[in-house]
Amino acid sequence: MNILLTGGAGYIGSHTAVVLSQAGHEVVLLDNFCNSNPSVLEHLQKILGKTLPCIEADVRDTDVVEKVLREYKIDAVIHFAGLKAVGESVANPVLYYANNVQGSISLLQAMKKIGIKTLVFSSSATVYGEPQYLPYDESHPTNPMNPYGQSKLHVEEILCDLAKSDSDWKIASLRYFNPVGAHESGLIGEDPNGIPNNLMPYVVKVAFGELPHLNIFGDDYETRDGTGERDYIHVMDLAKGHMAALDYLGSNFGFQAVNLGTGKPTSVLEMVSCFEKIGGQEIKKITSERRAGDLPIYFATAKKAADILGWRANRTLDQMYTSALLWQKNQISSKDDGLLRD
Ligand code: NAD
Ligand code: WQD
Repeated sequence: MNILLTGGAGYIGSHTAVVLSQAGHEVVLLDNFCNSNPSVLEHLQKILGKTLPCIEADVRDTDVVEKVLREYKIDAVIHFAGLKAVGESVANPVLYYANNVQGSISLLQAMKKIGIKTLVFSSSATVYGEPQYLPYDESHPTNPMNPYGQSKLHVEEILCDLAKSDSDWKIASLRYFNPVGAHESGLIGEDPNGIPNNLMPYVVKVAFGELPHLNIFGDDYETRDGTGERDYIHVMDLAKGHMAALDYLGSNFGFQAVNLGTGKPTSVLEMVSCFEKIGGQEIKKITSERRAGDLPIYFATAKKAADILGWRANRTLDQMYTSALLWQKNQISSKDDGLLRD
């Protein structure tokens, strides 16, 4: 199939591009590079041995999106384009609704105009909010605690209404938990601008001496060791989940929300000790105040993904860290000699 990945130059999009291309699909990227770097295209070329077409554009430019859909005879779209920083969304909610909701509406208008009605949407576990029970299943009430999560839920509601209005639509909304790690080549990975918000890239930067120590945001939660527990999933497992969702949509109509997680919560201290074992070095850490908005523990049941997509995550924490370390090592050496090493 010819597949358009909006936000395809980003962390999850670029890994999904690899998986889809290697499975024989024709992949086209559309990205405005507001949170990624065009250099990812060369790295994709190194991995795939071919150049993927990438259109630099904002998904809110409906005419351009429509032109791309026509020109590349797109059969299906995976919509990754979006802003994802919870803290930023609290400080600037309009930016998130404009980018994430308006951007999705623009894409849907372009798709509808041309009659392309197969879509995988990048949603988030943040749509669930305060857990009423755990693990979250897809029937858990949705009650986001921040504008970012709200923007994702608004899009899900729009998609639900769209599928009800026109039974030809095939839509999967994938609710990701905590994606971590990198492609095994170390040529692509998570490349946050500035100081990372998320745990894994932060720990990796401490390991390479780019940051002095890790701040552990609270160790007095009601969890196994007092630190926050999350459902970390290897980005390559996540990428494979997208391909499984596309395969499922090949013969299934309507709207489905599906969790992509491992079902196994891991605490901050457990993540750090796993890293220290893999990396063979101690990670300097300081326990600090809880981070506003953090939940003590959340994780998924991925039973529905196994049942309807035939998908389950299988990569280990070790593989998550090993790949993240190789990616960081490559990034440092590429800064030294301007090249990325295999
Ligand atoms: P990312 O920032 O690496 O990738 C998003 C890409 O979209 C970037 O390349 C960015 O330049 C592009 N983009 C953003 N707004 C755009 C616009 N208006 N037009 C065109 N391109 C635009 O983020 P990611 O981690 O790859 O996340 C991809 C999607 O998955 C996002 O929608 C995010 O909300 C969602 N998600 C991410 C996580 C996570 O922890 N990484 C978890 C759950 C959901
Ligand atoms: C994980 C754990 C922190 C950093 C976020 C977004 C969510 C989704 C995934 C988009 C928590 C602790 C972290 C640090 C720490 N993104 N931590 N020190 O908050 O579970 O989810 O990314 O959809 O929307 O909220 O991920 O990696 O920030 O935190 O102690 O420097 O690590 O308290 O327990 P989070 P995270």
